[in-house]
Amino acid sequence: MESKRLVTRDMGLVRSVFLRSLWRTVQRGGSGKAPVIAGHKLLYRCNLECAMCPFWRRKDENLLSVDDEVRMMKAVARAGVSFLGFEGGEPLLRPDLPQILAESHPRFHTSLVTNGWLLSNRIREIAPYLDMVFVSLDGIGDLHDRLRGIPGSFDRAVEGIRSTRGLVPVAINSTITNETLDEAEKMVALAQRLGVGVTFQVAYNYSAAESLAPVGQKLRGTLERLIVLKEKGAPIIESREYFTSVIDGWFRDTPWRCKPWMTMNVDPQGRIVLPCYTLREYGGGDRVWDVDVRKLWNTFEWDPYERCNKCALACYLEPSLFRWTNPTMLRERILDPIVAYLDWNVEAERPVPA
Ligand SMILES: C[S@@+](CC[C@H](N)C(=O)[O-])C[C@H]1O[C@@H](n2cnc3c(N)ncnc32)[C@H](O)[C@@H]1O
Ligand code: SF4
Ligand code: SF4
Repeated sequence: MESKRLVTRDMGLVRSVFLRSLWRTVQRGGSGKAPVIAGHKLLYRCNLECAMCPFWRRKDENLLSVDDEVRMMKAVARAGVSFLGFEGGEPLLRPDLPQILAESHPRFHTSLVTNGWLLSNRIREIAPYLDMVFVSLDGIGDLHDRLRGIPGSFDRAVEGIRSTRGLVPVAINSTITNETLDEAEKMVALAQRLGVGVTFQVAYNYSAAESLAPVGQKLRGTLERLIVLKEKGAPIIESREYFTSVIDGWFRDTPWRCKPWMTMNVDPQGRIVLPCYTLREYGGGDRVWDVDVRKLWNTFEWDPYERCNKCALACYLEPSLFRWTNPTMLRERILDPIVAYLDWNVEAERPVPA
């Protein structure tokens, strides 16, 4: 029953996101560069202390009020964005999260990235305003707890996934570090057992965190195994091209063309992070509501970043790869997710296929 409700909701969602994207393209005149996706850190504070993460180590300045969050959302929508993802730090530490999400949901496809610690306590407050929840899990049991710095974080995240499944589409968000190169299959098996999706992205070495980015042939092997699992029908959300582009760029000297302008990141004070999240290490510039984003996007010198290939963060790489003219991509990004939602996010757990 619940999964049927999700499917109906997802079909409506696909329609509304498509129409909204079309309308925003028309509104901005259809031509030139414009961001399609935006990520927004609601705060830097966190209840976990992950080794590879720089953000929990920062001090928060005054956070935006709900009214300023709305100001940010209006500016981001005017710029052309249709998908808004909230993260942090830990977004569930914000008491006003339901009010913020309630403002976002009518304007954007709205998603949340969380470590899951507080998810089962708060999911009922926020579920009506979410289209997708990503729960970060980097390994199984003690390995995850060690990387995340706090015992019990694996169990709390899995409990959060179980409470969310059936209310909002949910996926495991797994960051591949040099400590988790052998965990990929286990994460896929866990996602299958829980009946949810799974996304992978390769860790980046931020200057203010431990250097855990994986390198070398072992990483290549993990990426190749993930391609095989995806081809066999594992619920991996990244496109096949995501994995092949990382292999081509890092191991075959064939760089992908990065288009960081497709993704806008907004820091906890409402400032735009340019050219991208990674190169600026989340250092914001102008407040998004103080600038003409369209003008900024079409005068900013993006060319030096096209062949950068320094990170493989899916929020930049996936939109950079998308082509309406590529039938495989249309199938993977448009049709497969619709079909997959018919199958994932079921209420009951399943035996893991051999
Ligand atoms: C910064 S966290 C914020 C949301 C929430 N606290 C969480 O952990 O899901 C967002 C995502 O960034 C990932 N992340 C942390 N450090 C990273 C790194 N060095 N490279 C790539 N991704 C990283 C986390 O694993 C998480 O999935
Ligand atoms: S990755 Fe997320 S949970 Fe871990 S310290 Fe960073 S913000 Fe917190
Ligand atoms: S590849 Fe380079 S320009 Fe593109 S998002 Fe990553 S760090 Fe930024």
